[in-house]
Amino acid sequence: MSKSDKIYVAGHQGMVGSAIVRLLKEQGYENIITRTRNELDLTNQTAVREFFFREKPDQVYLAAAKVGGILANNTYPADFIYQNLMIESNVIHSAFECNTKKLLFLGSSCIYPKITDQPMSEDALLSGYLEPTNEPYAIAKIAGIKICESYNRQYSASHGIDYRSVMPTNLYGPGDNYHPENSHVIPALIRRFHEAKINNEKKVIVWGSGNPKREFLYVDDMASASVHVMNLDKQIYYKSSSKMCSHINVGSGKDISIKDLAYLVKDVIQYIGKVEFDTSKPDGTLRKLLNSTKINTTGWHSRVELREGLEKTYQIFLKIHG
Ligand SMILES: NC(=O)c1ccc[n+]([C@@H]2O[C@H](COP(=O)([O-])OP(=O)(O)OC[C@H]3O[C@@H](n4cnc5c(N)ncnc54)[C@H](OP(=O)(O)O)[C@@H]3O)[C@@H](O)[C@H]2O)c1
Repeated sequence: MSKSDKIYVAGHQGMVGSAIVRLLKEQGYENIITRTRNELDLTNQTAVREFFFREKPDQVYLAAAKVGGILANNTYPADFIYQNLMIESNVIHSAFECNTKKLLFLGSSCIYPKITDQPMSEDALLSGYLEPTNEPYAIAKIAGIKICESYNRQYSASHGIDYRSVMPTNLYGPGDNYHPENSHVIPALIRRFHEAKINNEKKVIVWGSGNPKREFLYVDDMASASVHVMNLDKQIYYKSSSKMCSHINVGSGKDISIKDLAYLVKDVIQYIGKVEFDTSKPDGTLRKLLNSTKINTTGWHSRVELREGLEKTYQIFLKIHG
């Protein structure tokens, strides 16, 4: 892999895609290509094919996807399954057709069954029913893994392709979505505590009992895992993977209760009011933690501790929304 190789980052304006571009630039990669959605709609097969044949990238990071919270997934299931299947099929097939040897597909931990052993290992895939609220999105993500594997199985020997998949845990950091109804737990808490602080509110109400535990990873760590997996020696990557279970989990390996997280965010924001938990609201799964042993054994470990990541994230939030 040379620093002048042409690298296409799909979804470069998103939270993960922008972190991957930042890291690649820091590492001295000189030939990064990007397109906004207006310039290239990845659900448009003809446009994607023309783009790939014009640019012929050596590597592709596929971080573009239709992403959203529970409400959006529940309201727009057709958009989630259709757009994600189209983006993956178009990008992966066009990459193959124009001889791109290396591609990294970003999935999600929601590919794993709703009820499964914790921490969740890669081989838990397809061992049970999915969480119904985001099943269409998860099915599309599973299809993305299987598209990569199928192209590898059919064409890696003849065409030398090597398409890999990473499954990130819950991510947070610069570029996150702070939409009041459609954001993930960390941006939602940051926004809520920040607003309570500036409005001198006496208390903040957090939905649920606070007992469920979740895992979080700072997005710059996700970018470093992505570049690490993309460039990992083939023998090392496939030492712990099989041809039909080739995806690799990426997590911090640590989980935290929503209650402890809420108090941590409160502390980082320096909000002095009270925190109350509304136990009439649903809790969801009690624990969701990825088993990241596989990626850890290849030499990658997360670096940014949760408190440090939250502090950095809040500083960036203040610059944009403060
Ligand atoms: N965020 C998390 O906690 C998390 C956790 C696990 C996995 N992931 C995965 O990581 C990947 C990136 O997520 P993210 O959080 O960075 O999402 P994001 O911030 O929403 O970024 C997604 C990007 O994809 C682009 N995109 C969507 N549809 C497109 C289309 N039809 N054509 C061209 N571009 C399109 C979006 O463009 P616009 O800017 O125009 O909308 C956006 O830039 C996704 O595959 C997601 O499943 C994320």
